[in-house]
Amino acid sequence: MSAKNKKLIPLEKILFSQGFGTRRHCSNLIMADLVQVDGEIIDDPDRLINSEGLILTIEGETWAFHEKAYVAFNKPTNYECSHKTKHHPSVYHLLPAQLIERGIQCVGRLDQDTTGLLLMSDDGQFIHQMTTPKKNIGKIYEVTTTDIITSGQINHLLSGVVLDDDPKPCFATQCHQEDEKKLVLTIVEGRYHQVKRMLAAVGNHVEKLHRRAIGNYELPTDLKEGHWTWLTAENMKALFGKD
Ligand code: URA
Repeated sequence: MSAKNKKLIPLEKILFSQGFGTRRHCSNLIMADLVQVDGEIIDDPDRLINSEGLILTIEGETWAFHEKAYVAFNKPTNYECSHKTKHHPSVYHLLPAQLIERGIQCVGRLDQDTTGLLLMSDDGQFIHQMTTPKKNIGKIYEVTTTDIITSGQINHLLSGVVLDDDPKPCFATQCHQEDEKKLVLTIVEGRYHQVKRMLAAVGNHVEKLHRRAIGNYELPTDLKEGHWTWLTAENMKALFGKD
C-alpha cells in the first residue's frame, strides 16, 4: 500500500472521528446530501476519502480534518477548567460540540480567576508529556502582586520554596521583575495553585495571574479571550521548546 493510500478512510468513519456524532448519525448526514468534500456532495458513507489536508463541509459549515485535536484556548476569567463546575461556567462550554464529542481535555488546569493560554487535546500521551515535570516544559506566567516585590522574594522563588503539602521545594526556573508589582515567572511543575502558593510562601500575594506561554509557544496576540485555534506542526515544536 502506498503512503497516499494509507490516508484513505471511509467518509462515515472520518465524520465519526471528528466528533460529528454516532456512526449512524454520521451515515445519515452523508446520505441526506449534507456532506461535501472539496465542494462535491458525497452521498455514500463508505466512499474512501484521502484524509490528508481534507476540508469537509457539513451542514454548510467547513471543518478541517485533524487526526488528533491540539488546540490553544485563550481562557477568560470566571470560567472553570472542569466538566463538573462548582461556581462558574465551564471552559468546555466555549468549544464546539465536535471537540467535546471527541473527548478533548484541558492540559493541566488554570484557576477560575487565571487568564491566558490553556492547551486542550484528545491525545492522552500529549497531555502527559506536557504536564510531567520530567519534560522540563516551562509554563510562563505574568504575575501581578498586591505588595511591592523585593529582590529577596525573587531570590527565594529561584532558590526554591517549600509548600505546605510537600516537603520537596518547588522553584521558579526563571523570574524577571517587569514592574514593582509585576513578575514574569516560569515553572515546570503544575501543582495545585502553585504560583499563588509560591508567592504566598515568600510573603507576597497574587492579585492577577495570566499564562503568557508554554515552552516557546506564546498565546497568539490575535486570539481573543474565549476563543480557540488549532495548533500547527510548528506551534507543536515550539511547545516542546524547539523553535
Ligand atoms: N498557579 C496558580 O496558582 N494558578 C493557576 O491557575 C496556575 C498556576
